[in-house]
Amino acid sequence: MKILVINGPNLNMLGIREPDHYGRETYADLVKKVEGYCAGRSIECECYQSNHEGCLVDKIQEAYGVFDGIVINPGAYTHTSIAILDAVKSVMIPTVEVHISKVEEREDFRQVSYIRLAAAKTITGLGTDGYLRAIDFLIDYLKK
Ligand code: DQA
Repeated sequence: MKILVINGPNLNMLGIREPDHYGRETYADLVKKVEGYCAGRSIECECYQSNHEGCLVDKIQEAYGVFDGIVINPGAYTHTSIAILDAVKSVMIPTVEVHISKVEEREDFRQVSYIRLAAAKTITGLGTDGYLRAIDFLIDYLKK
C-alpha cells in the first residue's frame, strides 16, 4: 500500500505559525511522525508540501496509477481551490481531508471546503494526530 501525504501552503511553517491553532510541532516533526507510523505498518509513504496551487495539482495528477490513497491538508486552498478538487476527482484515488485545527469553530470563510466534495473522510481538530487517523482510515477503506 502506498500513501501520498500532501500539505499545502504555510504548512511548512508549522511550529512557528499560530501555535494556538497549529501547535508547536514543526513540519519536519510531522513528516517524521507520518513516516514512522507508516513504516510500523509496512506502508510506503511519501510526504509532499508546496505553497503553490499548480504544484499541488501536478502532484495529485502524478499520483495516478502510483499511490493507493491520498491524505491531504490543502491549507487555505481548502477554501478556494476548485482546481485541487478537480485534480482529486480526476485521479479517483481515495482521499482523506485533514485539518490540524478545528476549522468548523473558526472564521466563516473557513467553513467552505471544496476538497470535501471529493473526500472519503474529513478529520479536523486533532492536531498532527489527524494525519495518523487519516492513514488508519485509508488502511481500513482500502482493505474493503
Ligand atoms: C488548516 C486550516 C486552514 O483554514 C488554514 O488556511 C491552514 C491550515 C488546518 O490544518 O487547520 O493553512 O488547513
